[in-house]
Amino acid sequence: MTDYLALAEDIAREAGEMLLAKRPDRPEVLAVKSSPTDVVTALDRAAEELIRARIAAARPGDAVLGEEGGDTPGGSGVRWIVDPIDGTVNFLYGLPDWCVSLAVEVDGEVVAGVVNVVPRGEVFTASRGSGAYLAGRRLQCNTGVPLPQALVATGFGYESNRREVQAEVLAHVLPRVRDIRRYGSAAADLCAVAAGRVDAYYERGVNTWDHAAGGLIAVEAGARLGGLRGREPNSDLTLCAAPDLFDALHDMLLPLDPERDA
Ligand code: IPD
Repeated sequence: MTDYLALAEDIAREAGEMLLAKRPDRPEVLAVKSSPTDVVTALDRAAEELIRARIAAARPGDAVLGEEGGDTPGGSGVRWIVDPIDGTVNFLYGLPDWCVSLAVEVDGEVVAGVVNVVPRGEVFTASRGSGAYLAGRRLQCNTGVPLPQALVATGFGYESNRREVQAEVLAHVLPRVRDIRRYGSAAADLCAVAAGRVDAYYERGVNTWDHAAGGLIAVEAGARLGGLRGREPNSDLTLCAAPDLFDALHDMLLPLDPERDA
């Protein structure tokens, strides 16, 4: 397991260095994806290509799921889950919350995760059962925070029908918590839960590559990660907080889940 983490960390650091060195002052939008606000730059693709090349060289036979390149099957039982730039809009505007996110899954379970928040020089790591770390310091999420005192991070998908529902949920949540933060990178949000910089994170409809590495880091820091009604994150909602706060947030969000397609 440690080998996976060491390799993932090496690759995430190399991709981060490449992105920092090559990021132009004003990166151009190369294409749009699910909506005009869902953008991709040439460096999203270049970083994923670099990451895929390093994985293939070190571990031929592993599968890869990447945000930009999709699914590449493998026969080893190991799958890498890659977000070459999580927080692409921040990358575009020169805001500091974007990261390279790499997770390693063995037989369907994430066992190692690295989130390299490149502009901040922060590399979060975790391997299952061995804790989460930042710069050699073991991380512990906040506990014992009552809902009205919780600082809650969230994010918004790019499709406008989804955003209408997210705005309704936000209007319900905001008066009931200490405050809301929207940093613009789901993986970095999950690391913020792990580091106790926020008390919780929720978002509707994030993808596996957004939460795989950060989710393990948060769980290894003592947080609980899940969706509504005991489901896995992603199917309906990705929710992450210390176990006691998780339940309070879950119960607040549950009546707002209309099971509608958003
Ligand atoms: C996005 C970011 C954002 C979240 C979106 C994601 P991307 O990922 O994580 O914070 O709110 O749901 O799609 O597109 O920058 O890789």
